[in-house]
Amino acid sequence: MSTSAERVYDLDPETLDLFRLKGTYGGCGTVQIGNANGVKVRRVMQIASDLARAPFPQLRIIDFACGEGVYAIEAALRGAEVVALDARTERMKEGAKAAERLGLTKLRFEQTDVRNVNLGSHGMFDVIFFFGILYHLDYPGVFRVLRNIYQMCRQFLIIDTHIALRGGDSVQHNGQNYDGRRFREHADADSEEVRRSRLGGSLDNAFSFWFTKESLFRCLDNVGFSCVCECIVPLEPDKPEDRITIVATKGEKVKISSYPWVNDKSEYEIRLFLNDLTPPSSSPSIVSRAKELPKSIIKRALHTAGLEIRRI
Ligand SMILES: C[S@@+](CC[C@H](N)C(=O)[O-])C[C@H]1O[C@@H](n2cnc3c(N)ncnc32)[C@H](O)[C@@H]1O
Repeated sequence: MSTSAERVYDLDPETLDLFRLKGTYGGCGTVQIGNANGVKVRRVMQIASDLARAPFPQLRIIDFACGEGVYAIEAALRGAEVVALDARTERMKEGAKAAERLGLTKLRFEQTDVRNVNLGSHGMFDVIFFFGILYHLDYPGVFRVLRNIYQMCRQFLIIDTHIALRGGDSVQHNGQNYDGRRFREHADADSEEVRRSRLGGSLDNAFSFWFTKESLFRCLDNVGFSCVCECIVPLEPDKPEDRITIVATKGEKVKISSYPWVNDKSEYEIRLFLNDLTPPSSSPSIVSRAKELPKSIIKRALHTAGLEIRRI
């Protein structure tokens, strides 16, 4: 006899059709739409099930930019209390109807712009879903959204997002450079109505900012997450090369006894330390000692701190 708590819920044909046709209306890319989205739902639910420090019925989950809400519905079927948000109602209202048919009383849908959501407006959540929305946000608002999410997070955040495979458009925030690409969402001349009608796109911003993977990981580090990992398994056959799933946990930062020098140091300070660039007060200045180091090391250390050397 199986001891597993896992079971398949019997969904009505209309709800199954909603998920089977997900994204096929256009605007969501050409891969991982319709039935192919099943592998994403499987991956996310496995992460939540494996990493959450309590069973689903004891979890409070928020799903940012939920679309029709398949992830929210799947979590609510497992007994979690779920708040699902989207700025557009066209797809969300179909999810709300499905939730009603399924009797999911702990799931609430709400029309909200994710840029206005914060600890004060919605409170804290054990698990945060952030799927298909990061790459629809623009600089500098994206940094405020990530900071708000960190403050609202009790256990961990799951992000599924496009990334820029190469940088080129660099943005600055709090003294740090982040590499990525600006991506055009709407023509400047597009009316508000036209922008809203693109159901899978940004709500109104004409551009969005796609981080490179390195920049996104560093940004989540700077926001305060203690551990950031990329999820590979459960596998997602045919996931595009420029799309990744990330888990960012909010734990207590560890202190190391075996190498006490590393405690509380920034990445920049670690580079300086390892290259013996931290001067005692009586020794030659950092600048004169830096001349002895390969340029690449100096450039990388300065880049991390949002600085660069320019010949003038
Ligand atoms: C690519 S779809 C992703 C939907 C869903 N999270 C998923 O992964 O299937 C992007 C969603 O983000 C929503 N959206 C875009 N900008 C938003 C904003 N500023 N606030 C709230 N929702 C937004 C869109 O309405 C759309 O439903």
